[in-house]
Amino acid sequence: MLVSATSLLQRARREHFAVPAFNINDLEILKSVMAAATELRSPVMVQTSERAIEYAGMGYLIAMVRVAAEAKLPVVLHVDHGKNLKTIHEAIKRGYTSVMFDGSSLPYEENVKKTQQVVAWAHAKKISVEAEIGALKGMEDFVNVAARDASLTQPDQAANFAKATRCDSLAIAIGTAHGAYKFKGETHLDLARLKKIAALVNKPLVLHGASGVLEDVIDIAERYGAKIGDARGVLDSDIKKAIKLGIAKVNIDTDLRLAFTAGIREAVHDLPKVIDPRKFLEPASLLMTEVAKRKMKLFGSAGKA
Ligand code: G3H
Ligand code: 13P
Ligand code: ZN
Repeated sequence: MLVSATSLLQRARREHFAVPAFNINDLEILKSVMAAATELRSPVMVQTSERAIEYAGMGYLIAMVRVAAEAKLPVVLHVDHGKNLKTIHEAIKRGYTSVMFDGSSLPYEENVKKTQQVVAWAHAKKISVEAEIGALKGMEDFVNVAARDASLTQPDQAANFAKATRCDSLAIAIGTAHGAYKFKGETHLDLARLKKIAALVNKPLVLHGASGVLEDVIDIAERYGAKIGDARGVLDSDIKKAIKLGIAKVNIDTDLRLAFTAGIREAVHDLPKVIDPRKFLEPASLLMTEVAKRKMKLFGSAGKA
């Protein structure tokens, strides 16, 4: 069933698991994720970025997810990194059950104001709101340590922000970055910062940029011609620690992109005489399902639906 994220994420924080939130752009990714959630009895969030909405069209995305949500599992349809208030308003009106307003690059007061506006729209329809504070960048992406400390989420500011906006969950920056190239040297998150934030903010916390950038999947992609290079993701052990400390929603896009790409490359290579695209999409989908299942086991969401 299609549900709002609020009580699901509150339960996740209370019970120390995290709800997986997968980015979807099309039917293949959605079906792959739903196959994993159904097999492992995991609640699941499917989220669409503004670029995904541009790519597929909001109408198609909503219609597909409504069908997916006929599964007897909690399914949340969520706007990821909404920056355009018009798009968020439309999503709320047309049937999304959760939205993120990402004002993290705005001045603090503007972020508060716009988040409050989104909360007013969403709460009137019992839809949950994720907000963000802090700059989502890798640990080495700052000019120096002082700049890094100032740009990652400040615990006191996060507490004030969460209270002022009445958001339902809060995305924080503790050293993760989007994409496949998260770290140049050692992979490390600022878990001490997370601990301080969690002590002050009693709401579900959200970890973006959380893909593991799985080596075995990259190996397949590279065996069939991809040139991925020095990609590096978040360690499973850090994800586990972060969930123990209060992360209740973990966002995954890159790991599914890599699996989709690896699966397609392998199938296209192995089936040179085939022109039926389904023969390429099916194995790619199986690989995405396999990756989604790994995440559900890692996050402790398997069996929670
Ligand atoms: O946070 C970003 C997500 O990975 C979505 O990426 O804007 O290319 O759809 P996208
Ligand atoms: P990854 O790029 O690590 O998968 O992060 C995805 C994300 O945060 C989507 O909002
Ligand atoms: Zn993100």
